Formats: sequence, structure tokens, C-alpha cells
Amino acid sequence: MRAATRFAAPAAVLLALLAAVPAGADAAGGRVRPTTDFARAEPGEEDPGGAATAHHAPTARAFAQPPANLPFGRLLDFKVGDAVFRKLWVSAPSSTRSSDGLGPLWNARSCQSCHVRDGRGRPPPAGETATSLLLRLSIPPQTDADRRALADGDLAVVPDPTYGVQLQPFAVQGHRGEGSAAIAWTPVQVRLADGTVIALRRPTYTVRDLGYGPLHPQAMLSPRVAPPMIGLGLVEMIAEADILAGADPEDGDGDGIAGRPNRLARGPGGVPALGRFGWKAGQPTLAQQAAEAFALDMGLSATSGRAPWGDCTPRQPECRGAPHGGTGEDAVEVAPALLDLVVFYVRHLAVPARRDVADPRVLHGKRLFYASGCIGCHTPKFVTAADPARPELSGLLVWPYSDFLLHDMGEGLADGRPEGRAGGRDWRTPPLWGIGLTEVVSGHTFLLHDGRARGLLEAILWHGGEAEAAKRRVAAMRRADREALLTFLRSL
Ligand code: HEC
Ligand code: HEC
Repeated sequence: MRAATRFAAPAAVLLALLAAVPAGADAAGGRVRPTTDFARAEPGEEDPGGAATAHHAPTARAFAQPPANLPFGRLLDFKVGDAVFRKLWVSAPSSTRSSDGLGPLWNARSCQSCHVRDGRGRPPPAGETATSLLLRLSIPPQTDADRRALADGDLAVVPDPTYGVQLQPFAVQGHRGEGSAAIAWTPVQVRLADGTVIALRRPTYTVRDLGYGPLHPQAMLSPRVAPPMIGLGLVEMIAEADILAGADPEDGDGDGIAGRPNRLARGPGGVPALGRFGWKAGQPTLAQQAAEAFALDMGLSATSGRAPWGDCTPRQPECRGAPHGGTGEDAVEVAPALLDLVVFYVRHLAVPARRDVADPRVLHGKRLFYASGCIGCHTPKFVTAADPARPELSGLLVWPYSDFLLHDMGEGLADGRPEGRAGGRDWRTPPLWGIGLTEVVSGHTFLLHDGRARGLLEAILWHGGEAEAAKRRVAAMRRADREALLTFLRSL
């Protein structure tokens, strides 16, 4: 990664910066140089979302709050958006035309079913069908046309010819579900320098109860749990140039950490865009991510041009021929106003305030986080761009602890399934804000893209590839230092 690269920022951004950055902060554009002073907390550090932080008690509702600075007049939109997020969709035809169109194939009936309390999903307990962990599917390119479409970015993946790009375990009445993810766990022991032995668990994924015959022999599976829903509007507001300034694809500075953008050939309006959302940064905007979720997870078309049958393939003709919930010519099942409201809601779910920022153990852990090279990917802070349409999210000093870039994380974490510019070992650095509240919000501490880690230390010990050196520094720590590092993470 490259630190605090200089570039010319638009005047509006600079003005926002002057207003937002506390005296003493060293900023270039929206990138802010990491601190070197660990004797005290930094100005603003307790509010990771700046003025858009939520100051709610650290309870199970901590991720479901609007930002403190949301004007009263917009609170109603937030609440109605929340209702759309929780809305249970039903199959068509139904007497409530505004709620029908589910499926025919689906993973869940509402956004909230996976993003429970706007928190994190989990691998299924033994014997249960996975809901908040889903399997993406694709196959390697088979033809020159496939190869061209991938190279040009017209396709992010080549779908499995029968099952499409995602496995949907459930179906509306009269149709078969596609099957479900089966996970086998293998224990892996790791010995730390101080003699402590940690047992990791390595998952292997297969699909059982296939409803439509075999998968393609070269089918690639990518397991993903639902990520937490906080601070996403702030992520959307970080200037593309500020994220790209951290990229170092050839590792020019020789620190072993590269960082590449998942550039999408076609974002909103058909123009190229930076992928920011999803575990491989496959989606450029919250609107596109939400439309994709409606289509793949619930079988609902939310924008014109999308089929009402979601992920059903030509080899699933009954599925494509089933009644749908579309009204009007383009057969959109989710009215545009509902899509706008749900996007408004997820855009404004606030980052919770930090706890204990000035605690000496937290500050010691923070120093170790910086010194171990974690910030090579988990970039502490940015200043968001200015957008007159989103004044509450503009020009804020925010602390996501992510560079929003892709990194090769080694064979241990690899899914072997490329997506757009992201390779089979690549993952986007996830933001760490709010991670200390995972248990209180979601009732578990499963971390990483597939929830394999059962806590913070396991998540760190799975780091490999570009993060191998940082991981080793943690494994070599004295117990008290390791505990301080984890205490810092729990304060986020
Ligand atoms: C079946 C479970 C499921 C349902 C239902 C679901 N999601 Fe998700 N959501 C996920 C998973 C899994 C991911 C990660 C996807 C990826 O890595 O590509 C995700 C990612 C997201 C993200 C990106 C978060 C980030 O940090 O990058 C947003 C925003 C989102 N979902 C919103 C929604 C909305 C809005 C709905 C309802 C329209 C919805 N989701 C329904 C499972 C679900
Ligand atoms: C080379 C880039 C890189 C470095 C260096 C790095 N990380 Fe990460 N980190 C990632 C990526 C990418 C993921 C997601 C991997 C996955 O889900 O498979 C991740 C995931 C995590 C998670 C779990 C987050 C979640 O939402 O599940 C934690 C906690 C974490 N890192 C902490 C650390 C700590 C502590 C260090 C320093 C010792 C560190 N990381 C160094 C890139 C990095």
C-alpha cells in the first residue's frame, strides 16, 4: 500500500476538509495520515462516523440506529425504509400486489432475515439450512465469447449453466429448491510463540439435495455470510480517487502489501466504477447492491431490465414460466419508491460510538495494531467527499479501518472463484468499525467472509498471503500484548 499519496482534490472536497479535519490532522485529499502518537486518543476518534455516528447504548440495537445528525424530517424515511428492509415478500399472485413476486427461487423472504438486527450472518448450526450464509456459483470461461465478456467486464462471472450465480435453497409452492450448502469442518492447530495452542476450523463446502441435477463439473463455490450494515453510506461517500490512491498493485513500495481495486466496466449509468461493496468488492453502489440482493436472494426484480424470475436459468423453464409479481410494462416487482427507501435506510445505518478510546490498554493495543502492519490494509481514517444531496454524510472524518481494496489473503482463505477483477485468493479488506459489538448485536462472534473464525484471534490467525507478515507478528507477541491488541479491536 502507499501512504498518504498526494493528489489534487476538487475545491469542494478541500472546503469540506477545512471544516471537518480537526487541527493537527495531516490530510491529502480525503486520505488522512495515520497517527504516530499513542499516548492519548486522537480528536474525533470516539466517533468513527464523525457527526454521523450513533450514540446509542451498546445493546442488541446498536447497529439499527440513524446517525445523530440526521434531520428530524428524514427520520420518517429511515423508519419506512426499515419497514421495507423487514418486509416479508410472498409469492405471486397474491392479494397484496405490492408485496408479491418472491422467487420462484429464494434464499430468504426479507433483507432482515439475513442481516438480522442489521448485524452479521453466520454459518448454519449443524443440521440447519443456511440462510445468512449463501453460496455463489460460477464456472471457468468455456468459450471465446465467455473469455471476451470477462475481459471486457460485460460479465463478472460465467454462471453455472443450470443453477446460475447463486444457490437458492428454497422455492415457492410447486417448485423445487436448488439444494443447500453442506459444511464439513477440519480442525487445524496453530501454536503461538508463547506456547498457546489455538484450534482453528477449516471448512469444506459441498452442495446436498441438488434439485435440478448435477452442478457443472468445474463449478466453483464461494461461501459468503451477510456483512454488518453499518456505515455503508459513508463508504459510498469516500472519493474514488482517495481509495485508488492507496492501491499499489505491483507493490512498488516493497512492503509485501499490494492492494488492487475491483474496477467494474459498467457501474451506474453504464460508466466504469469502483467496486466497494461485498466481500470481493463486486458492487459499486448501495442501489446496485440492493437491486442485486432483491434479484438473487429473493427472486424479485427491482429495476427495469432485470427478470422477475431472479436467478432461474434457461435450464429451469418452469421457474421462468411461473407467475410473477410485476405490474406495468417492465414487470418490476419492487416499486422504485420501495427500492429508494430501503437504500436510504441502509445508507444511513450509523456506525456506533467507540467505547474506552482513552483506556491505556486500548491505546497500547492500538499502537500494536499500527506497528504490526495491520494498517497496511485496515486504513484507519478518511475524510468523506462533499455532496450537496447528502450533507449529513459530507466532509466527515471517518474511521472505517479499511482501504476498500482487494488483497491476496493466501491459500487458506481462498475460495478459488474469481469475481470481476478479484481473483480466487482475493478479498476486500472489510471495515472493522463496530466489530467489538458483534456479539451483543448478533449473538455470536463468527468472523471472516464465511464466518469460519469463532472470534477475533482466529480471524487474525487465518490471515495469509499479503497479510502473512502481520499475522506472524501477532503470533509472536507476548500474551499481554496480544490481549491488548484484542482489547483495542473490541473497542471499535
Ligand atoms: C440470503 C441472505 C441475504 C439477504 C436476504 C440479503 N442479503 Fe445483503 N448480503 C448478504 C451477503 C451474503 C452479502 C455479501 C455479498 C457478497 O460478498 O457479494 C450481502 C451484502 C450486502 C450489502 C453490502 C455490504 C458491504 O459491507 O459491502 C448490502 C448493502 C446489502 N447486502 C443489503 C441488502 C438489502 C438491502 C437486502 C434486501 C433487499 C439484502 N441485503 C438481502 C446476504 C443477504
Ligand atoms: C494484506 C491486507 C491485510 C492486513 C495486513 C491485515 N488484514 Fe485483516 N483482513 C484483511 C482482509 C482482506 C480480510 C477479510 C478476509 C476474509 O474474510 O476472508 C480481513 C479480515 C480481518 C478481520 C475480520 C473482519 C470481519 O469483518 O470478519 C479482522 C478482525 C482483522 N482482519 C484484523 C486484522 C489485524 C488485527 C491485522 C494485523 C495483525 C490485520 N487484520 C492485517 C486484510 C488485511
